[in-house]
Formats: sequence, C-alpha cells, structure tokens
Amino acid sequence: MSAPDDDARSSVRMEDLVSLCARRGFIFQSGEIYGGINGFWDYGPLGVELKNNVKQFWWQRMVRERDDVEGLDGAIITHPRTWEASGHVANFSDPMVDCRLCQKRFRADQLEGIAPCADADDGAHRFTEPRDFNLMLQTHIGAQADASSVAYLRAETCGPIFTSFKRVRDGARQKVPFGIAQIGKAFRNEINPRNFIFRSREFEQMEMEFFCHPDESPKWFAHWKDVRMQFHRDLGIDASNLRTRPHAPDELAHYANAAEDVEFLFPFGWQEIEGIHDRGTYDLAQHSKFSGKDLTEFDERTKERFTPAVVETSVGADRTTLALLCSAYREEELEGGDTRTVLGFSPTVAPIKVAVLPLSKKLREPARGLLADLRKRFNVFYDESGNIGRRYRRQDEVGTPWCVTWDFDSNDDGQVTVRERDTMTQERIPAEGLRRYFEDRMEEGL
Ligand code: GAP
Repeated sequence: MSAPDDDARSSVRMEDLVSLCARRGFIFQSGEIYGGINGFWDYGPLGVELKNNVKQFWWQRMVRERDDVEGLDGAIITHPRTWEASGHVANFSDPMVDCRLCQKRFRADQLEGIAPCADADDGAHRFTEPRDFNLMLQTHIGAQADASSVAYLRAETCGPIFTSFKRVRDGARQKVPFGIAQIGKAFRNEINPRNFIFRSREFEQMEMEFFCHPDESPKWFAHWKDVRMQFHRDLGIDASNLRTRPHAPDELAHYANAAEDVEFLFPFGWQEIEGIHDRGTYDLAQHSKFSGKDLTEFDERTKERFTPAVVETSVGADRTTLALLCSAYREEELEGGDTRTVLGFSPTVAPIKVAVLPLSKKLREPARGLLADLRKRFNVFYDESGNIGRRYRRQDEVGTPWCVTWDFDSNDDGQVTVRERDTMTQERIPAEGLRRYFEDRMEEGL
C-alpha cells in the first residue's frame, strides 16, 4: 500500500493503455467471449513477448550472471503441509465486508473509490463487520474429493524453494550464503481484483530467496536492495517513477527484521511492484519443525550449527510489465498537427526489435531474405501492406525501436534505410552486416 498522504499520479490514462493493449494484442480479458472472469488475463502475441523479455532479463541478472544464485522450477501444487508450515492456511487472509443491500463483497481496507450501492437510495453501502477471508485457492488431488485430498495452488512461488533447499544446495554444491531463484505462476483468490493486471487472481512472480548466516542478513538486505533497484532502472523504468518505501513497524511480519517495497508511480498512484524482506530464520525453522528434517548448516568459523536466515526479493512479472507499459506510453504532437502514439520501450524489453518494410510488394524477395537473416537473432516483424508512414506509426504504437525499409535503390546499392522510433531519423546502412549493426545497437540501448 502506498503512503495515504501521497496522491501523486502519472499523466498516462489507464483507459488509453488498456484499450491499446486490447486493440494491438498485448493483454485482454481471459474468456472474453463468455463475459470473462474478473482477475484473469490472456497475454496476446505482443504481450507474451514483452513479459518473456522481462522474465528473461530477470533470469539473466539474478541467476546466470551470478555464482551464488541457482535456478529452480518447482511444482505449482506442492505438499499441503508446506502451506501449513508457512502460515498461509491459518493466516493468509484479507479483511472482507459484504454490503447487506447489494450483496457485493469488498476488501475492508480498500473501500476508497468503490462504486455506490445500486440498491440504496442514498448510494451508501450497508456493510457487515469485517471478517477474514482466506486467499488460498483450493483443489483436490486424486479421485476422492474430501478433507484428506485438499491441496492448494501456491499463493507465492517461494514454497518449493524452501522445501527443496537441501536438494538444490547439495546438487549445485553450494554453501550458505547462496540463493535460489524461481519464476512461475501464483494464485490468490483476491476479493477485489483491480487496476488491469496490477491485482489479479492468477499472476506470475519472480522470487529469489537468499540463505545466509543470521548475523549477515542486514548486509545482504542492503546488497539486494541496490541490485533490485538497478534492475528496474536497466529495464528502462524512469528513476523518477521509482522509489523504495520501508515498512512501518506495525506492517512488519512478527518474524521479519526489515522490509522495503519498491514502488512505481502508476496512473492510480504509488504502488508496490516488489517486496524485499529480511525474513530472519522463520522459513527454514518452520519447515524443519513441520517436516522433522534438519535444515541447519554448519558454521566452520564457530563450529556451531545454525538455521539460515532468508533475504527475499519478490517481484511480480505482471506488475513489472504494467509499470513498463505505463512508463513507455506517450502521445506526441507532430509537425503538421498529426499525433502519434508511442510505446518507448528499451530495446531489451521491446516485443518486436526490428520491422522489415519493403517499399513495394515487388521488393518482397530481397526484403524477406533480410528478414530471414535478422530472425536468427531477434524477434522481427514483416509488413508489406499500406503506405510507409502508416506502417511506421503502427510500429511506433507497439514500441518497435527500428524499422528497416528496402526500396528500389537497395537492389542497386545494397543499402537499406533504418528509421529510429524515438527520433524518427533515417540512416542508410549496408544491408550486409545489418544483423551485427542491430546487435551493437541492442548492446548500447537506444
Ligand atoms: N513471497 C512474498 C510475497 O509473495 P507479496 O508482497 O505478497 O510477497 C510479491 O508479493 C509481489 O508479487 C508483489 O510485489 C507484486 O508484484 C506481486 N503480486 C502479489 N499479489 C499480486 C496480485 N494479486 N496480482 C498481481 N501481482 C501480485
């Protein structure tokens, strides 16, 4: 939650963004032809590329570029005791109220800005007392559907990281301090999913649990905070729209030593996109208690056994994608009174890196030859229909950093026109070696 006295807003209008996302095939409601279900979204051709780029960049930074972090892809449904040990079965709930008149349900702590009651003359809802509503989604395993077959869709991805801690450590021949990272789906039966993909019932998390000696957790907490802020800036999110917010003492979980949220300035205000938590020894101590397995480590220095502490970084892939969309969206006035809509993505996250646009259908053959070469390395789009200005605009609107035009001169001089999205400047470049040219441009950003 953002600080209540903070009413800053970005200039982007959510309705413009949501409409662009649906129209150009980024993100739209799941099961739309049946009316959809609140809190579930499908990512279309451009959306899946965008979110995959976010996930790949995270994996690259958090796993591949580090000696001290290992990857994991744990099951969505794991042993139900996992969620008893973590406290989710007993405590993972939000306060809920019902309106006695219209029967609608709301989160008791999020009543600001809700629609008026349709069944009250004065529009005022008549709420019940708040009660706890558990957010875990349940299912049954096997042919019997009774209390013994209940299982849970994970509400956060980190469960298997804790239960498989020893396996990963031994298999990868790691020693504390080290981390385990995972990207995957999580499910929460949110009372009020809202703000597009910001709060949904099925979403993706990118989580890393870093295991260390409890004496060293403050040091690692500071380290991971810096690493994670740099990640968001390198994705292309403007630093002025990012901040960290330490949790107040009454927000901290009873076992946590420290917690800070990374917040982004959305059109609906400052909101969390990532949580960075020093969770103390709670996780491994609980799983050790519930499983009866020893999850302690040996300290060579003191010759004592200890339960590792955990510093967690937990970021939503969907919320990061939404932050990127909000950061990138702009409408520009052009000379001559025209306007263009641009998604100013960094080349790292842009769903399409290059569009190949032959000036005429007669130039299809050489243009498709170029396309085949560039496709070996990048996601490239091909479009030969419509006037060239309109084709540029269509690429600006989905954030393609570069367009390549093959014209009649290209057949003679072997050069193509490269047009940049942001400056709209054009340059003649030899077609041979174009792949290398874009590789270099990708390295340096736009
Ligand atoms: N393991 C810690 C944990 O799950 P969290 O603050 O509940 O912490 C971490 O979630 C991140 O997951 C959030 O910062 C957000 O980006 C994402 N997230 C949580 N609930 C979400 C929801 N209902 N819809 C979309 N993203 C969500």
